[in-house]
Amino acid sequence: LISRLRPGRDGDAPGLITLLTACWLEYPGCVVDVDGELPELHALATYFADAGGTLFVSELDGRIVGSVGTRPLADGAWELCKMYVDAGQRGSGLAQALLAAAEAHAVAGGATAMKLWSDTRFTRAHRFYENNSYVRSGPIKVWTDLSNSLEFAYAKPLAGVVVQRLDAAAAESAIPRLSVVLRDCVDAGASVSFLPPMAMERARGFWKGVASGVAMGTRILLGAWVDGVLVGTVMLNLDMPQNQGHRADLQKLLVHPAIRRRGAARVLMQRIETEALAAGRTLLVLDTEADSNAEPLYRSAGWTEAGRIPRFALMPDGSLSATILFWKELA
Ligand SMILES: CC(C)(COP(=O)(O)OP(=O)(O)OC[C@H]1O[C@@H](n2cnc3c(N)ncnc32)[C@H](O)[C@@H]1OP(=O)(O)O)[C@@H](O)C(=O)NCCC(=O)NCCS
Repeated sequence: LISRLRPGRDGDAPGLITLLTACWLEYPGCVVDVDGELPELHALATYFADAGGTLFVSELDGRIVGSVGTRPLADGAWELCKMYVDAGQRGSGLAQALLAAAEAHAVAGGATAMKLWSDTRFTRAHRFYENNSYVRSGPIKVWTDLSNSLEFAYAKPLAGVVVQRLDAAAAESAIPRLSVVLRDCVDAGASVSFLPPMAMERARGFWKGVASGVAMGTRILLGAWVDGVLVGTVMLNLDMPQNQGHRADLQKLLVHPAIRRRGAARVLMQRIETEALAAGRTLLVLDTEADSNAEPLYRSAGWTEAGRIPRFALMPDGSLSATILFWKELA
């Protein structure tokens, strides 16, 4: 598949226009007017080259069956554009290969993040971006074009360990990745409310509840990306009794088993303290399985053990494990 990718040429214009038109016409109300609204399609390789970026296409039997462009923006991020895959090639890995090529090109060009706009009707594309660790970032762009387009903003950090707070839109769009992280942590033995084997549907149900808590302001949720992959999370439950408004519970510190010991959890813990203080919470409380990977992390991050409760949680092997209660007062 990768070998079928090649740099785009201006001469690909007829094939690109055919591809884009077929993709747009899958959705109700989308109208293609190349001369009026998409004149760059006539010389797309030059368009991206002039912007400091590049265009990749995939050709099969003389037809253009895939495209993606990328170009630098002013803020250190690069934009992903013109991501289209022929209906017959979907599910083949071609989309993944195109995205990987564009991201690698952007990283080589010094990109710190990737951003993109996607029409609100392109729900299949949204799942694709979400499975690839992109999250929605709030604003919706309103166009006055023939298609009456509304576009979601998606973005993700690309390089190193980066922690971001997820707002309601981001939390909702992070559900596919966070479900994978939770399932894989549980299946690897983490004692975090669930037992293995964890069904994806159960994981998605959990994160849907969290996303609505974020929307209602009762939860603060963070995501951690390592080299462009959403691999970690932690949250605060702010929903406290009337006399404990200065307090929050720290929950679900999770880092994907394949990306451990890269520092993601430590950065998540630092950032969540900043967010707690900003929300007026000066006392944090958590419980964690005794002798888990997390216990030394909490101790080294200045948390105090309040005590242990034996036989607290059921383990996959049928035994009951102790839990340790920790607290930390913030300055
Ligand atoms: C706990 C967890 C979040 C740590 O994630 P991580 O990204 O690997 O952590 P970091 O790389 O940031 O490591 C931070 C510190 O945690 C401690 N730590 C992490 N994994 C450890 C392990 N296997 N053994 C001992 N200490 C460990 C170390 O002190 C480490 O610092 P160091 O690398 O400088 O020695 C991860 O192991 C996990 O998801 N575990 C399962 C879920 C869980 O138990 N969550 C806690 C629920 S309350």
